[in-house]
Amino acid sequence: MGRDIKIAPSILASDYSKLGQEVQDVISAGADWIHLDVMDGHFVPNISYGPDVIAKLRPHTDAVFDCHLMISPVYVYLESFAKAGCDIITVHAEAGPHLHRSLQKIRNLGKKAGVALNPATPMDVVEQVIDMIDLVLVMSVNPGFGGQKFIHSVVDKIARLDALIGNRPIDLEVDGGVTPETAIACASAGANALVAGSSVFKGGTLDHYRDNIAALRRAVEVNRA
Ligand code: DX5
Ligand code: ZN
Repeated sequence: MGRDIKIAPSILASDYSKLGQEVQDVISAGADWIHLDVMDGHFVPNISYGPDVIAKLRPHTDAVFDCHLMISPVYVYLESFAKAGCDIITVHAEAGPHLHRSLQKIRNLGKKAGVALNPATPMDVVEQVIDMIDLVLVMSVNPGFGGQKFIHSVVDKIARLDALIGNRPIDLEVDGGVTPETAIACASAGANALVAGSSVFKGGTLDHYRDNIAALRRAVEVNRA
């Protein structure tokens, strides 16, 4: 409640042959953060990109780099992602036995720390680390691929997390299948940060990005909790 709205396009859906331009375009089209989906072919059944690509993108914008690590093990790579220029580093609760240690490390590296929950993961784990996080990412698809269908049963979890977070300065982010239609339920439940790949990059031009981002922002603004 009261948290600023953040639209975070996932470059997973962008044209990789011109990544720097794509990042600049979505920011100039009104996006707030750049969402970076890192996949290792082990924690999730897909491989995307790593810290070297992120480091090359860093000079293209001052926007917040919101890094979503879908990798296991994760702890040993945190420093590389911090050095690459990520501002928020989010790790999955399911990615290993040492969530607390990973969050501590992210904060020690001077970065904001996030915890991500798969659709089937209960929110209880968040209570245990609530003082160590700046963001909770609720997966509304099974992680690994863009373009999947929004899983509506996570909306209730978003609402319960919103109540748990209360006035703490923690962003509540939803990721997967977010469109202007599904964003309405997310925003009503209390989500303030929307990750969107397909629905932002659809159309492939700056004008489309502007319209797509505006549509998402409208859906959240009108339907906030
Ligand atoms: C899925 C990723 C998402 C994905 C979202 O594993 O975490 O960030 O890119 O893509 P869309 O918006 O197409 O569902
Ligand atoms: Zn993501």
